[in-house]
Amino acid sequence: MADKKALMNGLNQDLANELGAAILYLYQTSTATGWDGEELREFLTPEITGEMQHAIFLAEKIAALGGKPITTPTQYKSPKDVKGMLKYDLKLEREAIENYSQRAMQAEEAGEIGLKIKIEEIIVEETGHAEQIDRILKGM
Ligand SMILES: [Fe+2]
Ligand SMILES: [Fe+2]
Repeated sequence: MADKKALMNGLNQDLANELGAAILYLYQTSTATGWDGEELREFLTPEITGEMQHAIFLAEKIAALGGKPITTPTQYKSPKDVKGMLKYDLKLEREAIENYSQRAMQAEEAGEIGLKIKIEEIIVEETGHAEQIDRILKGM
């Protein structure tokens, strides 16, 4: 039971972070300027809906487990320049991977194997995001 409560709290923190990331990316794609900003918009715009898909999955799962999905996003404050934005996003994506790795373990301990597998799929996606941003930053 304690396992399930810790899992639920963690999932709610993940949900707040995903909502915050979607809002952050929306802010960045709408305010980035210059040629770098143009390119940022191109690759980051699909991530807005990508992170929202993660949020939808988490909210539905929290409700299915008998919990109450959080509605307050984590507040992120974006740097103004494109390179700063990318560095900031890379840090967040890496934190997300760490959080989800912990969540996958908690899901397994709670006997939620389907959830564990789904979280691992999200880890694959966040890892892809992090690698892409890292690649872009290396060429800047
Ligand atoms: Fe995400
Ligand atoms: Fe991501």
